[in-house]
Amino acid sequence: MSSGSAPTDRATPQVSAFYDRFPYPGDPLQDGPPPGYNWRWCHAAAHAHCTGRLPAPGPAPRILDAGCGTGVSTDYLVHLNPGASVTAIDISAGALEVAGERLRRSGGEAAVRFACRSLLDLAGEGPFEHINSVGVLHHLADPSGGLRALAGVLAPGGLLHLFLYADGGRWEIHRLQRSLRLLGVGTGAQGLELGRRLLAELPADNRLRRRHEERWALDTQADANFADMYLHPQETSYDLPRLWDLIDAAGLTFLGFSDPDRWDPSRLLSGELLERALALPARERWQLVEALDPEISHFEFFLSDRPLRRQTWQDDRVLLAARGRRNPCLWGWPGRQLLDQDLRPLDLSAEDLALLQAMEARPDDPLAAVLEPRDLPRVRALQDRAVLLLQEG
Ligand SMILES: C[S@@+](CC[C@H](N)C(=O)[O-])C[C@H]1O[C@@H](n2cnc3c(N)ncnc32)[C@H](O)[C@@H]1O
Repeated sequence: MSSGSAPTDRATPQVSAFYDRFPYPGDPLQDGPPPGYNWRWCHAAAHAHCTGRLPAPGPAPRILDAGCGTGVSTDYLVHLNPGASVTAIDISAGALEVAGERLRRSGGEAAVRFACRSLLDLAGEGPFEHINSVGVLHHLADPSGGLRALAGVLAPGGLLHLFLYADGGRWEIHRLQRSLRLLGVGTGAQGLELGRRLLAELPADNRLRRRHEERWALDTQADANFADMYLHPQETSYDLPRLWDLIDAAGLTFLGFSDPDRWDPSRLLSGELLERALALPARERWQLVEALDPEISHFEFFLSDRPLRRQTWQDDRVLLAARGRRNPCLWGWPGRQLLDQDLRPLDLSAEDLALLQAMEARPDDPLAAVLEPRDLPRVRALQDRAVLLLQEG
């Protein structure tokens, strides 16, 4: 582990001391690779999500996990991107110690380089084709400066995956944070004890207590997670207009949410109201969803330094020249009853399975050599469901 350079955000000393006390996330360590997958941490699947196509053939991606905490995301980044070089940084030596141990035990240690440094101070690092920064920028005093710093080490056309707090679904958390601050419980062991006591002692029908029990109790079982939620010394959260301002100020392009189903108004509306919603420009449509769904407590999305061309595979010739890859983020392969990349049940027909296996057996051949033109609708359907990822020929 290389040693850190001077902190460059005024919140850094407080925030790094906080995470030294409460390394986050508090997920237990285990031997062997991490369970399952999260496609947002698989560069190929993320690239296909953002552009409809796999990255062009070339060296394995360089990946940065900015604010890696105890290394849960780092572990997935290593295991879901074989051959990639992963750099993982954090300002908390305590969190990095756990992350190092996690990667040793998972067998991913050789592919990762940890460094105790701020994402504001990345001189000499990068560029990176894939940057992951989940739950970090909103803990800087100047998130905008943080985003600009990440933009500065993003490779041209690279992907930046962010997760930031959303105001709307965190109203009760904000009230509890405010209450604990007024009670002067601090951000250490005493805060933890009195914070838990507050939630146990509020009247059983109190909305804050009920909401905690229904929505957050499970997430905050580990002390580190409870502290992260209720005792944090430095936290900002956003609504969509402020999020667009943040992104625009960094000169970055919004590529889309990484949980797009959440932003689909058809899960909330139907009939004429849905038609009206669908007629809105995208940003207004999302603001409508934000207004209608008070459960939205975070934004997760991809950015790039430029708009990225989307391949729709409508042209048969382009499709026949492509190479097909099965999405590595599927559960139950090879088989017909799978879970898709979002862990939803997926039933493949015998023909679908045969087609995917034929492509897997000849990964370097264009589709034209592996299948018949009559298979193209099936290929498009598999691509639409992100079972099959396609690389342009
Ligand atoms: C809520 S934790 C998220 C950890 C991890 N990304 C995850 O989601 O599992 C926030 C992490 O960001 C780190 N952090 C905060 N400010 C940072 C900065 N300026 N540079 C690098 N890391 C920072 C903290 O030390 C902490 O480990």
